[in-house]
Amino acid sequence: MNNFLSIDDVTNLEALVASARNFKQNPYAKKQQGEGKTLGLLFMNPSLRTRLSTQRAAYNLGMNVMVINVNQDSWQLEFEDGSVMDGSSVEHVKDAAAVFSQYCDIIGIRTFAGLVDRLVDYQEKVLHAFVKYAQVPIVSLESATLHPLQSLADVITIEETKTRSKPKVVLSWAPHPKALPQAVANSFLQWVSETDCDLMIAHPEGYNLSSDFCSGAAICHNQEEAFIDADFIYAKNWSSYEQYGKVLCTDPAWTINQEKMSLTNNGQFMHCLPLRRNVVATDEVVDHSLVLVQAKNRLFAAQAVLDQLLSTL
Ligand code: CP
Repeated sequence: MNNFLSIDDVTNLEALVASARNFKQNPYAKKQQGEGKTLGLLFMNPSLRTRLSTQRAAYNLGMNVMVINVNQDSWQLEFEDGSVMDGSSVEHVKDAAAVFSQYCDIIGIRTFAGLVDRLVDYQEKVLHAFVKYAQVPIVSLESATLHPLQSLADVITIEETKTRSKPKVVLSWAPHPKALPQAVANSFLQWVSETDCDLMIAHPEGYNLSSDFCSGAAICHNQEEAFIDADFIYAKNWSSYEQYGKVLCTDPAWTINQEKMSLTNNGQFMHCLPLRRNVVATDEVVDHSLVLVQAKNRLFAAQAVLDQLLSTL
């Protein structure tokens, strides 16, 4: 593994999940693996779980960690090659990424979708600029279109809690007042489709995800029908892909409640958090869910990824 940007960087998913589960049993098994190494975490957007779990994962491996909130703590970055920088951008990513590489052995970066121009977001311009100009491995802490550390934690969670070998997994759209990226949903589909499961996507008309992520998944526009016999309900809002970034529906009929969960095969509710209670899902559903297990597994997912990257340095 040279970088961790998507599932395409993982050569053996089963082994990565096993490594994470081993760390869960013994978090300090490799406490000298990262000795003398520094992880730099660059946040262009807010974070609670990703920030804390990745820091803690690095500490468990003996690494040092430096965190910077780009745009708040440092200079506004320019991403266009060859641009005449006489506007608001003060430092080019070419210089910033190279400078970070002088201090850090691995760099993690969070850069959300702008949700204005689909082409720009799906080109992952910011993430790829760091990959191009940094001289050390890059870890995605959620990019414009993918959130691989979250998806690894989700796969671990499903593997350790499933009660049948081929569970039915439903990715269900749920309401949200604001436009959100497709990253978590895209990434979840990429990772879960690599496991043995029956995968279904439930969403209102107009919320199709990019077909690049949906192969092998059944699509259903009736949420109750989709929930029947499901083992896992993974809830997430995303804004429209086709009418890019638009909110087409906020219908509370899509809020996940106990009545809908009772249609499942004693199914478990999952969400990456943060979650707007009683909008995405009711209190009762969230309070009896796997959300904290997922959050805890973020730590071991990050630890397994950092461990693999450290072994290549
Ligand atoms: N799930 C997740 O990535 O949470 P944060 O945005 O708080 O990091």
